[in-house]
Amino acid sequence: MMTTTRASATPARGIRATTTKRSATVKTATMAPRGAGATARARGALARVDAANGEAKDPILLRAARGEDVERPPVWLMRQAGRYMAEFRAYSTKYGFRYRSETPEIAIELSMQPWRAFKPDGVIMFSDILTPLPALGIEFDVVKGKGPVVEPVRTMADVNAMKQLDDPDSQLPFVREILSTLRKEIDGQSTMLGFVGSPWTLAAYAMEGSSDRHLMTTKQIMTQDPETLHAFLSKLADALGVYVCHQIDSGAQVVQIFDSWAHHLSPQQFLEFSHPYNERIIAYVKERHPETPLIFHANGGVGKLHELKKSTADVIGLDWNTSMSEARAILGPDRVLQGNMDPMYLFASPDRIREEVAKNVKDAGNGKHILNVGHGVAQGTPEENVGHFCDAARASLYAEVGAPAR
Ligand code: CP3
Repeated sequence: MMTTTRASATPARGIRATTTKRSATVKTATMAPRGAGATARARGALARVDAANGEAKDPILLRAARGEDVERPPVWLMRQAGRYMAEFRAYSTKYGFRYRSETPEIAIELSMQPWRAFKPDGVIMFSDILTPLPALGIEFDVVKGKGPVVEPVRTMADVNAMKQLDDPDSQLPFVREILSTLRKEIDGQSTMLGFVGSPWTLAAYAMEGSSDRHLMTTKQIMTQDPETLHAFLSKLADALGVYVCHQIDSGAQVVQIFDSWAHHLSPQQFLEFSHPYNERIIAYVKERHPETPLIFHANGGVGKLHELKKSTADVIGLDWNTSMSEARAILGPDRVLQGNMDPMYLFASPDRIREEVAKNVKDAGNGKHILNVGHGVAQGTPEENVGHFCDAARASLYAEVGAPAR
């Protein structure tokens, strides 16, 4: 693993970042084999032109996210780029996470791998929810066998020491190049997806310092020093609004907010510590980019469907614990839902995958739905099953399954 220190941020308080400096190794990305993945499944996913009138159409995921009626459920997968792919492991065994995600040539290659192989309707930038933190003065790294390690932010003094995100082009110089190049490469045949973590989820990562199953530190701060948590959430929300707009300016057509740790919050806590800050991001972005759909994905949404209904995000992403039909009933016929097949079905037979997809599509109401897994693709997933999942969505024409049951 390379260990060059970041040029822009001091690896303060004991965390040493793994490399962002451009170096000669960058060339390896362009030399990467384009073999297996290059034999992409064509399978009719790429129609960009309306056959009837010859007009160029926006890609299907973008149209669906806007709430337009589309002919079939668009499909992509959370963590579609990852260690379940041999092509990806060729990089992840060689380079540290930050080096891969902050070196445009490599991040572009890793984003393109699942698209070349399975042609999902969305291409998500290879990055992480933690990626903007060093720009705010909070260092992190992803340590093999341990996961993310973040420089702790626990006191008001820590919050006050944070930097603002006022110049993303210089503070996160790789983002524009990654997104703008990807947008050109996919050439309207798929939708370019950007993403951020929710302020709550990022605050929890930074307060814990690493993954803690129970969020002991964060929840103690929440119950004993809520002012510090609110001050932190507020600064994160402001920075993330700027960051989402920067992603859109750079080429993102739809942006997802991941609230991966929402399941640690009661519905009341969600309304106090997560929802208002997500809404602050959404309002900031909508004022500047009203045409860009936003997805809000909450893990643990099942106990919070009435609270999620208050979200002004265009699309609500649900984890696999949530019943799609219950979500449809509570969130209403017009809200676009995303999700939520248990990714463990990707270990099952192609027939079983198709069956689950059909159920999912029907439960979502045969429309206003973006098919996805209800959590990230797991390591060890047979690669070809991700292809079967995408193919099942392409084969699932609403016209053939009947009128919307919504
Ligand atoms: O394909 C995609 O979806 C885009 C890439 C992506 C990554 N992380 C790459 C990554 C996305 C969208 C994320 C988001 C992310 N990161 C979330 C939200 C999604 C969710 O799962 O709820 C969270 C909670 C994180 C924090 C994080 N970063 C974790 C839990 C890990 C895994 C740690 C480990 O060692 O397994 C990371 C690192 C990370 N980010 C990996 C990948 C592919 C794995 C490590 C590696 O590639 O070296």
